[in-house]
Amino acid sequence: MNHISDYIQSWKRRHPDEPFSAFIYDLAELKRNATRIVASLPAGAKYFYAIKANSDKKIIETLLPIVDGFEVASLGEVEKVREISGSADIIFGGPGKTDGEIENALRHRVALLHVESIAELLRTNWIAGRLGIKADILLRVNLRGPLPAGTLQMCGVPSQFGIDEADIPQAIETAGSCPNISLRGFHFHSMSNQLEAPLHAAMVGHYMERARLWQTQYGFDLRYVNAGGGIGIHYEKLEAPFEWDTFVRELEHIIEKESEGNAPCPEILFECGRYTAASCGYYAAEVLDIRQIGDSSFAVINGGLHQFLLPGAWKHRHPFFIVPVDGWSYPLPRTEINDRPVTIVGRMNSPRDILTRNENVARLRTGDVIVFPYAGAYGWSISAHDFSSLEYPEFLYMPWQA
Ligand SMILES: Cc1ncc(COP(=O)(O)O)c(C=O)c1O
Repeated sequence: MNHISDYIQSWKRRHPDEPFSAFIYDLAELKRNATRIVASLPAGAKYFYAIKANSDKKIIETLLPIVDGFEVASLGEVEKVREISGSADIIFGGPGKTDGEIENALRHRVALLHVESIAELLRTNWIAGRLGIKADILLRVNLRGPLPAGTLQMCGVPSQFGIDEADIPQAIETAGSCPNISLRGFHFHSMSNQLEAPLHAAMVGHYMERARLWQTQYGFDLRYVNAGGGIGIHYEKLEAPFEWDTFVRELEHIIEKESEGNAPCPEILFECGRYTAASCGYYAAEVLDIRQIGDSSFAVINGGLHQFLLPGAWKHRHPFFIVPVDGWSYPLPRTEINDRPVTIVGRMNSPRDILTRNENVARLRTGDVIVFPYAGAYGWSISAHDFSSLEYPEFLYMPWQA
């Protein structure tokens, strides 16, 4: 974290009168993390980046030579990828797609469309027919279970995503009767922020079993099982991360076992957002004011959940650290608190604009900068930036441009 502190301190020395607020993306860390992940995957697995986690152009550019492609959830995201690469593999999913999106995604030559209902399947067939092409699709499965032991917490109440598992046979038959559709496999994305590697691997094994069963029953060319994203970041316990090596070992066993039969093992696809991009990002904002209300201390930062919704959306305790800024250019006293709990809040006129509650700080002054690490995924991209027309943060990239 020292490089971030040094950078912020030097920025403040150069801009003493500008209140700091920025997302800082360490592109070297992004590259290191993605390279580690992709290099460790066994043959037969492919890794896509889900750009909804962070579709910043420089993030996509950095990942382009490393990952196998990009998972997108809208035409806007297709276009963001295509702006950077005319040939990168794109896989396109999303619970509701317009005709225009399906048509333009096909025109942009997406590699796979994840189809979420039988009606959408028929619509895709009709649109592909108009374009005179065949669309490669995966059927998105909404799993009912039974699920492997220990994974029950991964399935929830009925959700709006994909096709009910009970209707998959009908969807396969419908796909077989559509002249402009090639069914290439199944898409499963059933969880978010999974922290347990063995459970995640068991779930991937379960996806594979289901897909193989349908392949045997309906006899089609099963090329891909998309296991989705969902690999987690232990925000509250960074020292105990998802055990990636354990996960990879289990994955190797799954692929070995599936390669023993007569039919070739389908490729397993992953489309991870959080696990790819979280560690490269820092959200940093200067303390504008510190006030005491009764027994409680509040620090108001030059930002808030409208820029960094993640801790509010997930209701987790997000880690943070303080960068002391020694310069103080006002001819006025500086507020300081020592050795006491502080609640860090944002600039929105909402009592919910709380980034973290009652955290002990050794020393905090107005003008110091609070930094939230692991802000590279679902930070800016999920936040309500335009609330109250508040200013946008800066976007800074390491290694720094000259
Ligand atoms: C279909 C789909 N795939 C992949 C992802 C990425 O998930 P994560 O960032 O948890 O890896 C999401 C996230 O919502 C998703 O909905």
